[in-house]
Amino acid sequence: MKKFLSTYTPLQIAIHLYAWSTILRLIIEAATGTLSVNPIQELEQRTGRQAITLLILSLACTPINTIFKWTEPLKRRRTLGLYAFMYAVVHVIIFVDLDYGLALSQIVKTILQKPYIIVGVITFLLLIPLAFTSFDIWKKRLGKNWKRLHQLIYLIAPLAVLHFAWSKKGDLFSLSGDIIRPLIYVLVLSIFLIFRIPAIRKALASFSPRRLILPSRKSQQPKVDTP
Ligand code: HEM
Repeated sequence: MKKFLSTYTPLQIAIHLYAWSTILRLIIEAATGTLSVNPIQELEQRTGRQAITLLILSLACTPINTIFKWTEPLKRRRTLGLYAFMYAVVHVIIFVDLDYGLALSQIVKTILQKPYIIVGVITFLLLIPLAFTSFDIWKKRLGKNWKRLHQLIYLIAPLAVLHFAWSKKGDLFSLSGDIIRPLIYVLVLSIFLIFRIPAIRKALASFSPRRLILPSRKSQQPKVDTP
């Protein structure tokens, strides 16, 4: 136990526990028959939500570092991004297999009929190269292009939120339907994207309320590429 705790930081442990918790709960609920009256839809929705939550958490790492001067989250972005991809893969498998029984023509028909699913497909396709090139070997191989490629995340995240909000079929103008949750994601994502604007980032950095690393250790900050 002591060795485990000295190998992994509390943040690492929290991320792994949080990431696996949804799958674990879904397995338990599926095994005990307590998922919901529509178990496939429940599986689809909860894996989709976990994917988007992890994606947005990965976007939170840079602002956290900027505000609190806490460098560890920068090292955890890849883990969060890969877990987001894992849930997106499970979400898509549930759609094509459990929901549509791998009936290709039916799947294509549904995708073409529902624009929010087209957005989901585009989001998923864009996520694939990011997941596969997230490893250090690809960072070295792609050089400057790695950063350019990974900036796609600023397109992917809004697309994922659009897919989410659109799937709810609510009316944004009359605030009717199940739109509160997607709206929260829109809000959180907008805040993180605003934090990326250089002028705002600079202002935040100078107003940092806390410094989680000692000034003398500043030179030891990890060299992490920020897309
Ligand atoms: C091939 C790609 C995808 C397909 C075919 C697909 C399909 C679907 C479908 C059919 C639903 C509606 C479920 C329902 O309410 O009955 C849905 C919802 C959702 N999807 Fe996707 N999706 C895809 C990609 C993604 C990706 C990449 C993400 C996130 C990164 C995502 C996140 C979500 C979320 C958050 C919801 C709403 C969950 C809720 O209702 O609470 N999807 N998706």
